[in-house]
Amino acid sequence: MTATQIHDVTAAVLRTLDGCTDARYKEIMSAVVRHLHALVEEVDLKPDEWMAAINFMTRVGQTCDEQRQECILLSDTLGVSMRVVGLEQARRSAKALADREASATPTEATVQGPFYWEGSPLMPLGADIGEGMPGDPAYYSGTVSDTHGRPIANCCLDIWSGDGEGIYDMQMDGEVGMRLRGRFHTDDQGRYHFWSIKPTYYPIPMDGPVGEMINKMGRHPNRPGHIHAMVYADGYVPLTTHLFPTDSPFLDSDVVFGVRDSLLIPFDKHPPGTAPDGRTLTRPYHTATYDFHLAPAA
Ligand code: BEZ
Ligand code: FE
Repeated sequence: MTATQIHDVTAAVLRTLDGCTDARYKEIMSAVVRHLHALVEEVDLKPDEWMAAINFMTRVGQTCDEQRQECILLSDTLGVSMRVVGLEQARRSAKALADREASATPTEATVQGPFYWEGSPLMPLGADIGEGMPGDPAYYSGTVSDTHGRPIANCCLDIWSGDGEGIYDMQMDGEVGMRLRGRFHTDDQGRYHFWSIKPTYYPIPMDGPVGEMINKMGRHPNRPGHIHAMVYADGYVPLTTHLFPTDSPFLDSDVVFGVRDSLLIPFDKHPPGTAPDGRTLTRPYHTATYDFHLAPAA
């Protein structure tokens, strides 16, 4: 029995997977080992640097709690989340393109981010989830249909955003509960409409280890303005995406790389008056329209 020679460690670790019966797990773990070992070699990693990395990962984990997900933030800011989203999107679009009768590709997905809160209130169409919150009122409307253009009735749109200053309810002082969130269901023609605020740009949480990393990398911490939507109905692939106002700063340098051209929409500004749903506004408001397309489930 001889000890593994130092240059044989990579091969020795890979051989430990010989008995792994889960083929996909084996494929992923062997890639993890190969890429990690290659990184160590490429940068000639020093012991104190590896210890700093271990301390960093430890702090990323320790920063997580019920309301704070630093691991997602790390994945997002390193672009890993969007690479995963992009691969899934390509699979979905390829299916739609192969379907000769399809008239649309599925709406592009983007990162979920750390501020999703399950179980937001069910709201009737037309409700205002931004009432009383800082920000300019905005009326959102459009349709949900499938990739053949058929309307999807009773489709859920789970909507969330920060306020007009870019602050999410989870970040507000004093545990305010759910704000600027709600679930809406499309009508029998696949239509939706609701009120909220026009979203503005904001910095991601910078008071943890990921914030230190962003500073050390010399990056800015901002996301362009966006409103989140999770759109789902039985029989369709669920969609997690955002809508971005075309006039927001940072569209070309989103700290989490989540912007897609197809998700940019104008927020038309109107003087005080009667809105499309008959509501009377005493201050200026915006209107934004977007039609979502869902792929059929396999
Ligand atoms: C967000 O849009 O809520 C978000 C996404 C990724 C990282 C931080 C925030
Ligand atoms: Fe967000």
